[in-house]
Amino acid sequence: MAFILKRNKKSYSLTIFIFCVSFFLLLIKNLMGDDGKNIFMRENCTKCHSIKAEGVEPQKESLLKGKKIIDHSGVGIRRDSEWIQKWLKKEIENEKGRKHKVKWKGNNEDLKILAEFLSNLRREIPEDELKKWYQDLLNSSR
Ligand code: HEC
Repeated sequence: MAFILKRNKKSYSLTIFIFCVSFFLLLIKNLMGDDGKNIFMRENCTKCHSIKAEGVEPQKESLLKGKKIIDHSGVGIRRDSEWIQKWLKKEIENEKGRKHKVKWKGNNEDLKILAEFLSNLRREIPEDELKKWYQDLLNSSR
């Protein structure tokens, strides 16, 4: 009997311990949140885009394939958060009558954070500087 009690006490402590650890991890995750930059990379936007002003490189495979990369360092000069969210959900067209290439597949929370982040980017990088950067990235990967 004493043995069982002891065992139970042990597993009880273990349960509390696991609970506390999980709670702590969850707390940290919530406090840190997921920032727009992370979401941008996680959702593979870097397949077609870069953000040089934030040090976000395009994917090497895209450079190797000679894919056209559009840099978003200054996208907030032209677009606000509302526009970007609708654009990513393919609800609106741009001035050229085109919709976005890919439709947003993530959740609304992330979309908001991402759009907010992008709409605050206002440091346009000159085209020749971007070209040189892509070329350097390409060279360093070979
Ligand atoms: C398969 C390639 C591809 C992927 C992946 C992609 N995009 Fe795009 N995106 C484009 C192209 C091409 C354009 C330009 C469309 C045009 O000019 O008609 C564009 C345009 C945009 C624009 C509008 C820029 C402007 O000034 O009008 C934003 C914002 C944008 N993309 C954000 C994103 C985000 C965020 C992701 C990831 C969730 C992403 N894109 C993933 C190809 C892509």
